[in-house]
Amino acid sequence: MREAQPKSIFLKDYQQPAYWIVETGLTFELQDGYTDVYSRLQLQRNQSLTADGSLRLDGQQLETLEIRIDGRVLAADEYRIEGDSLFLSGLGENPVLEIHTRIQPEQNTALEGLYRSGSMYCTQCEAEGFRRITWYLDRPDVMSVFTTAIVADGSRYPVMLSNGNCVADEILENGRRKVTWHDPHRKPAYLFALVAGDLLCKEDTFTTMGGRNVALKIFVEPQNITKTEYALDALKRSMRWDEEVYGREYDLDIFMIVAVDDFNMGAMENKGLNIFNSSCVLANPATATDAAYQRIESIVAHEYFHNWSGNRVTCRDWFQLSLKEGFTVFRDACFSADMHSATVKRIEDANIMRTVQFAEDGGPMAHPVQPDSFIEISNFYTVTIYEKGAEVVGMLHKILGKDGFRKGTDLYFDRHDGQAVTIYDFVKAMEDANGVDLTQFRLWYKQAGTPVVSASSEYRGDVGELHLTLRQSCPDTPGQTAKKAMWIPVQMGLIDSQGNDMPVNVSPAVNADGLATWTASSQVLHLTEAEQTFVFSGLTEKPVLSLFRDFSAPVRVEMQQTDDELLFRLQHDNDGFNRWDAGQRLMLNWIAQAERSEFELPAKARAVLAGLLADSTLDAAMVSYLLTLPSEAYVSEFRDVVDPQAIHLGRKRVRLALAMALKDEFAACYQRLLQHGEYRPEPAQMTARALKNLALSYWCEASDAGLNMAMRQFETADNMTDQMAALVALVNSGDAELAQRSLDAFYQQWKQDVLVVNQWLSVQSGSAETGTLEHVSRLLSHEAFDWRNPNKIRSVVGAFANQALCNFHRTDGAGYVWLADAVIRLNATNPQIASRLLTPLTKWRRLVPVLSALMRAQLERIAATQDLSPDVYEVVSKSLA
Ligand code: ARG
Ligand code: ZN
Repeated sequence: MREAQPKSIFLKDYQQPAYWIVETGLTFELQDGYTDVYSRLQLQRNQSLTADGSLRLDGQQLETLEIRIDGRVLAADEYRIEGDSLFLSGLGENPVLEIHTRIQPEQNTALEGLYRSGSMYCTQCEAEGFRRITWYLDRPDVMSVFTTAIVADGSRYPVMLSNGNCVADEILENGRRKVTWHDPHRKPAYLFALVAGDLLCKEDTFTTMGGRNVALKIFVEPQNITKTEYALDALKRSMRWDEEVYGREYDLDIFMIVAVDDFNMGAMENKGLNIFNSSCVLANPATATDAAYQRIESIVAHEYFHNWSGNRVTCRDWFQLSLKEGFTVFRDACFSADMHSATVKRIEDANIMRTVQFAEDGGPMAHPVQPDSFIEISNFYTVTIYEKGAEVVGMLHKILGKDGFRKGTDLYFDRHDGQAVTIYDFVKAMEDANGVDLTQFRLWYKQAGTPVVSASSEYRGDVGELHLTLRQSCPDTPGQTAKKAMWIPVQMGLIDSQGNDMPVNVSPAVNADGLATWTASSQVLHLTEAEQTFVFSGLTEKPVLSLFRDFSAPVRVEMQQTDDELLFRLQHDNDGFNRWDAGQRLMLNWIAQAERSEFELPAKARAVLAGLLADSTLDAAMVSYLLTLPSEAYVSEFRDVVDPQAIHLGRKRVRLALAMALKDEFAACYQRLLQHGEYRPEPAQMTARALKNLALSYWCEASDAGLNMAMRQFETADNMTDQMAALVALVNSGDAELAQRSLDAFYQQWKQDVLVVNQWLSVQSGSAETGTLEHVSRLLSHEAFDWRNPNKIRSVVGAFANQALCNFHRTDGAGYVWLADAVIRLNATNPQIASRLLTPLTKWRRLVPVLSALMRAQLERIAATQDLSPDVYEVVSKSLA
């Protein structure tokens, strides 16, 4: 056990810093084996505090070679270094601090700060990586103008980049090259970036609405230069969209993206110099699936949108992380909805909320969108901060309407441009621009946990009324009990027996706050009390209720609807999202039933599903979601006690029943959607491929004809979407020999391409058929695996523990031991990744007793490990608490 346990940091303890850093000058001397960093900081005493001239700076794993104040070198007894702090005293009002540190990018396996990825240097400074570069006030409210010089061997590092504009490029007397960058925009250190390497650049230009010509550049390793086109296109579309939808224009003459192979997260919005995990930016038709294209489009947009929501207006402290992340995820979701289908995007987002975020809310790491404490901030880049945060912003959009929301964001950007602010400031701008009181709404940021809304209704035919009673509650979460009622927007409609929406007359027409209850344009009931009854009148028949259309709030909804009503809504609901939701509820019922006995698809349901498959007027991508069974993880979230093996069996039976009952329909659907002509990553083609490949996966399960078709598609596909879909079908065919043969052929075809190989790893690790413990253990010693690369770790270890649930939850607990071994190993090299891999082990409390005990034992084993990083310590200790 560690001696001093890491401490929590609290939001309530926030204080401004004693000094500001007005200007930051950095010079990096890149040498083999080490890098020297010379900083020159122009400080300014913070007048709003009664500072006494003493200052604490952040630093980690730095070798401190020299410190000067106002030009004078400090003697060893004139400063104090204690752990990760440097203490200076006796500073004046405007001192100049110059520090020489030495760091070891080559040894940096945590991938925070300055590190090497392949033959290049790159940085990742969010959240607290800059302190691994030099002593600094590494906190987002300290904003500075940066000038950065990079000195290196110009022949080995022809490309040297930092934020802003390149202002000098010279050859020094010793033959080394020095490139200087200046960023005119004040920014916190977490947005700093540096790249040096032998890279190729793909260029384009963009003219902003104000007429600024912006050079767009994507830098990649030479072998990837043919994979840059799509990201550039997505970037231009994002830039235009942000002008049109938010009135936001780009503010530098150059915008750069660099692709790197070793990266902990997806991408990073460094000012003017975004750095991307290569898996989130590189694509061509032969190697990237449609899903990868869509992910690239949304991440490029996300990082670009941060230029306003994050960079121009940033966070005061890390408790405000969702200020930039929730808002920016909301923005990129709307962008994706505009580029593709809004309904499908909503389905995908709700699916993530229900499988991953609701699980987080129900587990030991539950936290509010604005947390009140943390041990390690890296652990709080979560689905709650990002996705639930985006849902909360989305509810503001629903409550205020499109125009009101835009008034709010305009005021927010105007009022706070150049500032580091709080979530409170964001909501305040929404209030002030619209004249509404959002006091109660703010609870969404403060209260953790997933609210439960239960609905009951009574139809009174004699008076033509429907009485709908909604009750809300929110379960206890660590550190929070007795929660208050929240403001929950309930978008809804009433459906008549023909499937049409009925006119709505509801009372009360106005609630206690003077809010209109339901209008034709909003279609939203405002649930603000613990219990409220709404009366719908003037009804000529008993309506079918459609509640929480468009997933209007991130809540669990409990309501009694019969399988017939659910089937009716699957067929007729006018809200595409609720068609999917009704179908998923129905399928959950089927799976529960199939866990107890053999399952046969009811005739009525068969007819409806066959109708969907044959209806070519529907959005094919939506149909493919309507016919996709909820994942095992999704099913688990609807159970009080989780029995993974039972869920696996039930789902498998339902899948087979669907495949058998609709065999001919799937075959016909597949044939109808076969595409001829050149592959393009465009919406119309993508949606057709999605349904075609879904049909193939069922067809394969039902007949040899389907399996033969999958083999043919695997061999002849000219694009990765089709080849990968066929591979997945073959891997899951139940024929182990065929699965291995296909995997081998695929590897031989693609072993030169890292990103494809990573997909190959995750297909087998994540499969119930091939993702056995023996198989994934062998993958760890395969030539394609590398413990230093986060993408590969996610592809093997992450896929096994999060997707191959029946294998991970082996009844002897060996899957848990294996995952714990991986966590312990990575704790020493890359704590961020180690901590993320732990998530499946945090769910032990809800498992059936035998598994629960086995899993808990592994958490205890990790807890007893020497030298636990704060990252792993926090998750393990909170999970066992
Ligand atoms: N700000 C980045 C993004 O969401 C993510 C950075 C995550 N960094 C980390 N250390 N967890 O676009
Ligand atoms: Zn982000």
